Parts: sequence; C-alpha cells; structure tokens
Amino acid sequence: MSDLKSQINPDKVPQHIAIIMDGNGRWAKQKGMPRVLGHRSGVKSVREVTEAAAQIGVKYLTLYAFSTENWNRPPAEVMALMSLLVETIKGEIRDLNKNGVRLTAIGDLEALPPSTLKTLREGIEKTKDNDRVTLVLALNYSAKWEILRATRHLAERVKAGELQPDEISEAMFEHELSTHGIPDPELLIRTSGEARLSNFLLWQVAYAELYFTPIFWPDFGRDELFKAILSYQNRERRFGMISEQLT
Ligand code: FPP
Repeated sequence: MSDLKSQINPDKVPQHIAIIMDGNGRWAKQKGMPRVLGHRSGVKSVREVTEAAAQIGVKYLTLYAFSTENWNRPPAEVMALMSLLVETIKGEIRDLNKNGVRLTAIGDLEALPPSTLKTLREGIEKTKDNDRVTLVLALNYSAKWEILRATRHLAERVKAGELQPDEISEAMFEHELSTHGIPDPELLIRTSGEARLSNFLLWQVAYAELYFTPIFWPDFGRDELFKAILSYQNRERRFGMISEQLT
C-alpha cells in the first residue's frame, strides 16, 4: 500500500478530530476473550492514534472514553474501565510529556470515583505546559447534560438581571459548554459500524464531517486515522453555500 501519510494535504489537516471509540467488546468476543481485554487493546489504539495525530499537526483530539450511560454496564466492567483509565494515565504521563501532549477532560468529572479523578487531575496538571496536541478525554460525558447545564447557567444570569434573553448569543452559549476555548471538531470518527452520535458533542459537531468505519476500535491505528483524514480532505465543506461561492 502506498504511504497514506504522504497523500495528506498538510494545509487541510483538521484542527480538531473527535472519536467515538466503539467495538472493544465485539473485538474481544470475536477472539473469544473477555470484554476487558478489548478495552486494554483499545488503549494501544489510543496511543497510536494520538501519536499519529500529533505527527501530522492535529491540535485537538477528543476521545469518548466513558459516557454517562456507560454506568449502566455490569459493575465489574465499569470498575475495570475506571482502573484501566487510572493505570493508563499514570503509565503514559512520561510519554505524553515526551510527545508534547497536553491532557484535559470534559464531562461531569466530579462524579467519577475519587481515585480516577485524582489521577486525572494529576495527569492534567503534569502535562499542562505541553502545546503540540491537546488530548481531551470525554469522561462521564453527555452532550445533553452539558447543554442543560449551560442553559441553567444562562437562565440564572437572566434571573439575576445580568442578562436579557435576547442577548444570549452562540458565543455566550459556547462559553458555558465544557469545551469552551476548544475549536469545534471538523471531523468526527466512529468505529465499529454504528452510525449514530450517542449523545457526544451534539452542539459542537453541527458542521463536522462524519466518518463511519466498520473497523473495531482496537484495530483502528495510524493508517485508519490517515484514511479518515483523506476522506475528510476529499469532501467539499460548503456551510450552506454553493460550490461556486467557495474559494
Ligand atoms: C466502546 O466499546 C469503548 C468504551 C466504552 C471505552 C473506551 C475505553 C478505552 C479505549 C480504554 C481507556 C481509554 C483511555 C483514553 C485511556 P464497547 O465496549 O462499547 O464495544 P462493543 O460495542 O463492541 O460492546
């Protein structure tokens, strides 16, 4: 296969890629392994994709690592995922720093188990000065939760007389989201053949290009990321205009 990386136009690399990492469980089941081993293999993909993204100049990578709905999984799997997160963050800090990766997180973090939250905070603190790529982990995240939270904050300000309802702008709303300060993703990838958004970044992906692949997350690596970027680069992003209006 020709080198996919060399086919990427460096001037059109998305600034922000968001990924719904799906299919760890089915990957493991296909191999007759426990689901947890699928998640462990998924960590390898996280590492490979983060490095590849950094190499080609992606500035933000947001990974859906745990949704608020994931608490409904069997308790043993939830515990295993939380331990895996702690272990991974602790084990990766040195490499994150070596590669210039700043770790951050979005979601209802306060509701995470204390040990997970503590490790996450340490990871964020120890990598805060890196500026090559920002790795955003969506943890205990739900788009509806953050949209409601933003609405409540703005409603409180209206109630306090600080703000008129018709003064509420897109920028003001965005400021209340957990992603404030992060540009919207231009590309959203979902692995494992499912074609839905599952309560992920609903506001932020309003204009994102969507890329769905049948590949299970543990099999998604550097070349799969490059294929998704090449697909993105071959699309025409019109933002409501017609082709002739685009320069
Ligand atoms: C979806 O596969 C995956 C998850 C819910 C968890 C993703 C977590 C990791 C890759 C490991 C930890 C991540 C980081 C960032 C350190 P699934 O279990 O829904 O698969 P299935 O649909 O086949 O059951």
